Amino acid sequence: MNIILLGPPGTGKGTIAQFLQKEHGFQQLSTGDLLRKEAASGSELGKKAEPIMKSGALVSNALVAEIVASNIARLKGQNIVLDGFPRNMEQAQLLERILKEQKLSIDFAINVDSSRETIVRRLSARRQCQKCNKIYGENIPPKKANTCDVCNSPLMQRADDQPEVIAKRFNIYLESAEPLLAHYRKLGMLKSVDGNLSTEQVFKQVAKAIAK
Ligand code: AP5
Repeated sequence: MNIILLGPPGTGKGTIAQFLQKEHGFQQLSTGDLLRKEAASGSELGKKAEPIMKSGALVSNALVAEIVASNIARLKGQNIVLDGFPRNMEQAQLLERILKEQKLSIDFAINVDSSRETIVRRLSARRQCQKCNKIYGENIPPKKANTCDVCNSPLMQRADDQPEVIAKRFNIYLESAEPLLAHYRKLGMLKSVDGNLSTEQVFKQVAKAIAK
């Protein structure tokens, strides 16, 4: 089964993808995590992407599609949860092309919607492991301050989790969200969960959505 997680920044896509990976055997394909890895490695791709990501803007569709294509090929044969891709109609079309080439398809898209107020609060509290990418926050605090429970590495605050950058990311999301949601609705592939709820309630809704 292959699924897409849609929704604004900070709505919980990464948290849900990690839940699906841990509890339901999915492989998380997070374009944000992959781009941050490239930036940290100092690769040519990372050098191009880093200033764009810090500003809150989107990296070019072609560049992200290239990363998605190679990772889908790597994960072929496993259940994939796409976290952060596609974000606009051009990316949705690029994804359809990539999947067709790999003889794969998407089963459905889950829209995780949260209010602007929830998002700003959560993103200000978010910390992430520099090594294994585990996400922490108001819902999942680390057992030891600033240290990952899983691999003991230091936690970091993302450069794009500053209030003015969060506002820009949210506005960019709003510009492209509706056509994308309409696209998957029209295909009969759209399911929704309320991202404002507690983590346990959100996970329950997601588990129910994938069971159908
Ligand atoms: P990316 O890393 O994908 O960021 P995003 O889409 O803005 O989403 P976030 O990762 O900020 O939030 P999330 O929904 O995953 O929430 P999370 O689970 O962490 O992208 C970053 C950048 O990379 C982009 O701006 C762009 O530059 C570039 N990029 C990436 N993909 C691209 C693409 N396709 N095209 C072009 N450019 C691209 O949760 C947030 C916090 O809330 C955490 O602290 C968590 O613990 C907490 N939390 C989660 N759920 C709950 C809950 N139910 N209750 C309480 N707290 C909760």
